[in-house]
Amino acid sequence: MARRPLIAGNWKMNGLSAALAEIEALGEAVRSGYDDVDIVICPPATLLMAATEVGEAAGIDTGGQDCHAKPSGAHTGDVSADMLADAGAAWVIVGHSERRRDHGETDAIVRAKADAAGRAGLAAIICVGETQAERDAGAALAVVGRQLAGSIPSDPKSGSWAIAYEPVWAIGTGRTPTLQEIQDIHQAMRRELAALGAPASHVRLLYGGSVNPSNAREILALPDVDGALVGGASLKAGDFLKIIQARAR
Ligand code: PGA
Repeated sequence: MARRPLIAGNWKMNGLSAALAEIEALGEAVRSGYDDVDIVICPPATLLMAATEVGEAAGIDTGGQDCHAKPSGAHTGDVSADMLADAGAAWVIVGHSERRRDHGETDAIVRAKADAAGRAGLAAIICVGETQAERDAGAALAVVGRQLAGSIPSDPKSGSWAIAYEPVWAIGTGRTPTLQEIQDIHQAMRRELAALGAPASHVRLLYGGSVNPSNAREILALPDVDGALVGGASLKAGDFLKIIQARAR
């Protein structure tokens, strides 16, 4: 099953308007010759509309970093999936571990957000991943399995969505699991998704956590890894471009 590679950048709470120049520079570099890979930048919500305009001509899609489960209403500070779509986003990240940690997001909340994304016509990148303590306890697979079961869309056959496996201890730390561990957990996730009734051979599974220009090639070459969710290394066009160029297929 050929799955189109997906390389997504998560800018987190980084980027003032000057950062749009990075998207422009990336656009110049990928304008031709990258038709076989989906390239997505998820800037802060404040830059979404402008980022979409800058990225559009070069085929760079944009995404939100979170959405509310409801389309509108009295939820100060929140942004709905419909608003992201209206601003030009095609994607939204849901359930990132920083949201789960900072905002107490449970699997049920993440699922509601993934459902909202689908209703708004956005593709969701649903994040899962174990903490260091869970890994040390030998529970990584169990935790990820539970998160998948609780967080994927209510109708797993509907809409377009991807999974990002991001071990919490690997995010922003420069540490990554071994290649064998990454492949094993992605393979296990695909099995789990099939058991949950999802179209597992089509769902793209991304690895995230300290992906950089030096380790991207070997990670992206793993058979069950269909792309990457990149934090720090997505902030500079040059680094992100190298990761895009490292895609295996
Ligand atoms: P990192 O972040 O690449 O900076 O480790 C990845 C993420 O949190 O999505």
